[in-house]
Parts: sequence; structure tokens; C-alpha cells
Amino acid sequence: MIYTMKKPTLLQTIAFLFLLSCVSCGAKDDLIEEPPYEEPNEQPDELPEEQPQTTTTFKDAPYLIGCAVVPSLLQNNRMYAEVVQEEMSSITPENALKMGALSKGHGSYFWDDADYLVEYAADHQMRVHGHTLIWHTDIPGWVTRYSGTREEWIALMQEYIHEVVGRYQGRIASWDVVNEAFNDDGTYRKTIWYENIGEEYIRLAFEFAHEADPAAILFYNDYGMEYSAAKREAICTLVKDLRAEGVPVHGIGLQMHIDMYRSASDLKASIQAAADCGVWVHVSEMDVACNPEKKTDFTFTDKIAQQQKASYQAMSEALLSIPADQCFGITFWGVCDVHSWLTSAPDAPLPFDSNFEKKPAYDGLTGTFGK
Ligand code: G3I
Repeated sequence: MIYTMKKPTLLQTIAFLFLLSCVSCGAKDDLIEEPPYEEPNEQPDELPEEQPQTTTTFKDAPYLIGCAVVPSLLQNNRMYAEVVQEEMSSITPENALKMGALSKGHGSYFWDDADYLVEYAADHQMRVHGHTLIWHTDIPGWVTRYSGTREEWIALMQEYIHEVVGRYQGRIASWDVVNEAFNDDGTYRKTIWYENIGEEYIRLAFEFAHEADPAAILFYNDYGMEYSAAKREAICTLVKDLRAEGVPVHGIGLQMHIDMYRSASDLKASIQAAADCGVWVHVSEMDVACNPEKKTDFTFTDKIAQQQKASYQAMSEALLSIPADQCFGITFWGVCDVHSWLTSAPDAPLPFDSNFEKKPAYDGLTGTFGK
């Protein structure tokens, strides 16, 4: 049998409410939990409008977003560490993995800072990108003074790469194996490695890194592909040639130390050229200088903030325009403006200001997610 409950009359309702008010003065346990009538279904005509909540963070990006980090700041600056933990999915040690920082003599190493960062990343489920094995600068004195045969130079390089990549095997996901091997006109930079080994140093460096960690993703990293067609051509030719010979080169890192005047089409063309090599593409050291003229009285106005935002947006759009399985990510060269390497004039190149507040640049990036 089905029992249906009739809607109470007005009188019954008043009587019920009166009874209820009497009971509520007594023991709460005796209260009737459910009203003996149906709740009205109708909603009030107008609900207060829900405020849209912008909860999108860098961790919601369709590729990994990261930044260059400094161990002492992670250890001693709470706000810096908070931004890294809340926003970043990847870190690149800004200096701790450079030869000048690690190598203190033949066979003698300083690991503390790099170890700290690798452990930090593991504790916070972040990828570590290793920067950088072979570079023309930040080389320790004992190497610049080294006088050896070509074979001895190759052995020195092999020993160093095996030691460093081997130590972090399985914990550092990817490496900038060779950094900045070309001049802007596309000729080889006459580095200490080039002078002592010849252009073959590049191929050898990749092979040594691969021997030390066969699973690591290995990058050629450079700046200027967005403004120099000759350099872009030289890099792409090198990467394609090496890959055709079976050398383990898996990606191109475009540093992208740009300024806010760089056109969206330059960004897109350089990212597309790298993608056309069939490798991973990493925007590896991004910042957007707003005072490239190096004015001493520079002010970060709203207008400049919007122009910088457009640059960050254009970079993300350019990366998103290549196949998703080639997008390695975007790494900023620093966390917030005050810690940027750009110190020769006042500037504001990063998505967080010096108080760790998000700038319009932040929305420039997040606005492209999910498009
Ligand atoms: O650690 C020493 C410190 O002990 C000493 O007291 C201090 C005095 O000058 O120097 C400190 O080292 C400095 C180091 O940064 C850490 O702050 C070096 O002098 C300085 O040369 C070094 O600069 C770094 C530079 O590369 C050279 O390695 C910048 O922080 C770093 O942002 C910059 O990064 C490069 C990328 O690796 C490659 N692409 C370009 C990018 C910008 O130049």
C-alpha cells in the first residue's frame, strides 16, 4: 500500500511551528528531525551570482612548467619555496650543475648543492632538468689550464660526463649536454672543447651522456634561434645530421631570453623549426626583458605589463602549436623578478614580481591552457 502525505493546511502549519518552538525549549534529543511536509521545490527567482574563481595554476598546464632554482633560496626564503612547490612541475639548477660549480680539480667534486636540489625535486614530485654538461664558460681553472693531447681532452670530457650523469642516473630526467656551441652567424664557437677536440666534441658529449644514463633525454641548448636564421639553420642541421648518424640527441632547448618587443611570429618560427627536427622542444630559460634599452629610470607600468603578458602568451601558444608529444615544457630563468640574472639595469622579466605576486604574464600563460 502506498501512503501519500497531503500538503498541510495553513492552520496545521502554524500549529506545527508553535509545537516545534515549544519542544525546542526542551530536550534537543526529542526534536523531530524531518519536517512532516514536503520541502518546496521551487528555487528563489534570483540566486546570488557565483563569483568565477580563477584556480588555474602553472601545474594545470598541458606541458610541464618549471624554473631555474638556487638552493640557498629554497632553503632560506619561505615565499620562494612556496611558489616553487605550488606552481612548478620541473626544476633546473641555475648554476649547481655547471662544471665550474661541480669540478674542483681532476677527480674532485662538490656535490652538496646539486644533491640537495635533486633530493628536493624527488620530495616534491618534480622533474629535474640538468643544466649543463659542456659549455664554453663557467669552466674551472684546472680545466682552462689543462694541457693535454686531443685524446686526453676526450678522456677528460668522458670522465666528467660519466661521473656527473652517472651519479644522477634515473633521478635527473634530462640534460643540456652541449650548450651554446654556435655563434649567431651559424659558425662554430671556438670553445675550449672545440679548440682541443674539434667539432666532434659535440657528438662525443652526447654519446658519453647516453652511456652514463641510457634513459636520459639529451638536449642541445642554445639562445638566438628566434632572431638568427643562420643560427637556427646551423642548430637544426647539426641535430638532424647527428640523429641521422644514430647519435642520441633527443631534444632542442631554446633558451628564449627575449624582450617584450620580440614578435610572436619569431617565437613560432623558431619553435616550429626545432619541432621539424622531430625532437623534444624545451623553452629552457625563458624570461621577457621589459627594459632592453637599460634605462636607469625604468618603471614597470600597466602598459608594459600587458606587453610582457602578450609575449608569455605567444610563447605558450607557439609551444602548443607543435605536436603534444614533442612539448618538453617551459622553464623560466628564475622564480621572481628580484632573483633574475638580469641585473645590469632595472627590469621585471619573470611571471612573479619581487613580492612573489603573480603578474599579468602569469595569466598570459594560464589563459592558453585548455584552448
Ligand atoms: O657562487 C659565487 C659566489 O660564491 C661568489 O661570492 C659570487 C661573487 O660574484 O659569485 C657567485 O657565482 C656567480 C653565480 O652566478 C652564482 O650567483 C657567478 O659569479 C656568476 O657568473 C654566475 O652567473 C650565472 C651565469 O649563468 C654564469 O654561469 C647566472 O647566475 C646564471 O643565471 C647564468 O645562466 C645562463 C645559463 O647558464 C646559460 N644561458 C644564459 C644564462 C644567462 O646568462
